[in-house]
Amino acid sequence: MKNIAVFASGSGSNFQAIIDAVKSGKLHVNIKLLVCDKPGAFAVERANTENIPRFVFTAKNYNSKVEYEEDILRHLKNNEVDFIVLAGYMRLIGSTLLGEYEGRIINIHPSLLPAFPGKDAIGQAIDAKVKVSGVTVHYVDAGMDTGPIIAQKAVELSDDENIESLQEKIHRVEHELYPAVIEKLLS
Ligand code: GAR
Repeated sequence: MKNIAVFASGSGSNFQAIIDAVKSGKLHVNIKLLVCDKPGAFAVERANTENIPRFVFTAKNYNSKVEYEEDILRHLKNNEVDFIVLAGYMRLIGSTLLGEYEGRIINIHPSLLPAFPGKDAIGQAIDAKVKVSGVTVHYVDAGMDTGPIIAQKAVELSDDENIESLQEKIHRVEHELYPAVIEKLLS
């Protein structure tokens, strides 16, 4: 079985969906490590509850991205991580991690890329008044949400859609899609 690390910055509901898929036997990977850049994030509590080792860091305590990514890399190597799954990790991956893991890092993004890249993809979709948005899983490269697309799923917007309601719809799709894609890639 492959060893994965999940990177998250926030609530970690996708992290939880991955944990639950492993527990229920739908996903055959070892979750070796949570990497989180926000000490107060709920994702960290989820890791504690599940006894998953975690590396939590604060970027501003380092002199550069290279320095904190070297620290991350040390933890990945110590845990023999084969594959990196970004799940709401709100930082661009830099050359240090790409140098070691390019082609073995995936991300989930709450829009149908290349539409609405970057932050607040859900708010961007609401503002643009689109009728369809969705979810994309893609390989990570040096750009912002630009790597090769692996899977996409559409979500329809109702006429009175708001950020909260669209976020809920998107999360529901993400929690199914992400574990299924990881299983397909790694099992
Ligand atoms: C997810 O919707 C994910 O697609 C998005 O952050 C959310 C994290 O939710 N990622 C991005 O916007 C990346 N550009 P979670 O912490 O509950 O998994």
